[in-house]
Amino acid sequence: MIVTPAPYPARRFQGAVAIVTGAGSGIGQAAARRLAAEGARVAALDIDGEAAARTAAAIGTAAIAIRTDVADPASIAAALAACLEAFGPPGILLNVAGVPDTANGPGLDQIDLDRWNRTLAVNLTGPFLLSKAVLPAMVAAGTGAIVNVSSLAGRSKSTNATAAYSASKAGLLGLTRHLAFDYGPLGIRVNAICPGGVDTPMIRAAAVKNAEDPEEKARRKARIAAHQHMMPIKRLSSPEEQAAAMLFLASADAAYVNGVALDVNGGMYMA
Ligand SMILES: NC(=O)c1ccc[n+]([C@@H]2O[C@H](COP(=O)([O-])OP(=O)(O)OC[C@H]3O[C@@H](n4cnc5c(N)ncnc54)[C@H](O)[C@@H]3O)[C@@H](O)[C@H]2O)c1
Repeated sequence: MIVTPAPYPARRFQGAVAIVTGAGSGIGQAAARRLAAEGARVAALDIDGEAAARTAAAIGTAAIAIRTDVADPASIAAALAACLEAFGPPGILLNVAGVPDTANGPGLDQIDLDRWNRTLAVNLTGPFLLSKAVLPAMVAAGTGAIVNVSSLAGRSKSTNATAAYSASKAGLLGLTRHLAFDYGPLGIRVNAICPGGVDTPMIRAAAVKNAEDPEEKARRKARIAAHQHMMPIKRLSSPEEQAAAMLFLASADAAYVNGVALDVNGGMYMA
């Protein structure tokens, strides 16, 4: 007989303090909710302050919402100060916030420097800045876990976003490995997950300005169908499935796992 486990059988994060970026939607929201369900207090950061507030409200007193732009060092400093005041120093950092960069076609000729810089600023510089902000407290505590959300795009190439997106996510894996090497001796583990297609507003292109345009809708449908065709597991992932992998890496269950890029893509890319 197959026994279905309870949704959150463990309290692996009892007493922990976690910062989750991109917590207003998708994977970040799912991760924030599950962290709290397993005992953590969570600072839910998002550039969309209302979305972060909705996540925190759904969690209750174990969460605070902080409107934060991960590309802005001053915004991160303010968020860390708010986290310290509410809950104390974070022992877990989940760098989830990201931008897709799919609008207007994937050609390099359409990526001007501003667009390149913004994609890199959010997807790569953001995790660099957040890590820099939280590492001193983790070093002082002699323990900590950072989990970055890279992508299939970082392991191979993006199926539907631009070269800027692929470069940002590949760069994030380099940052992950380097920090894992530098901070492993100090008790801090740094890992990444590499999702394939996840059923969130990002892949459905809700963030794209012309999301309701019939042509964009048709392109989006084709993109999602292409994803599903390539997948041995014939469906998109849920955000909760990605959160589960992140929380494994953040937890003591992964105490000897450091510097990995964990593919969570249903077998779409195998390496
Ligand atoms: N959805 C997928 O198929 C997929 C696949 C691979 C990787 N990813 C990665 O997963 C992560 C989460 O994406 P998602 O699918 O949950 O998308 P999502 O759009 O549902 O959530 C992304 C969140 O990040 C926030 N955000 C964007 N820019 C920000 C900034 N500058 N500062 C703070 N917050 C910001 C958004 O407001 C949003 O709430 C991203 O890094 C994305 O690149 C997603």
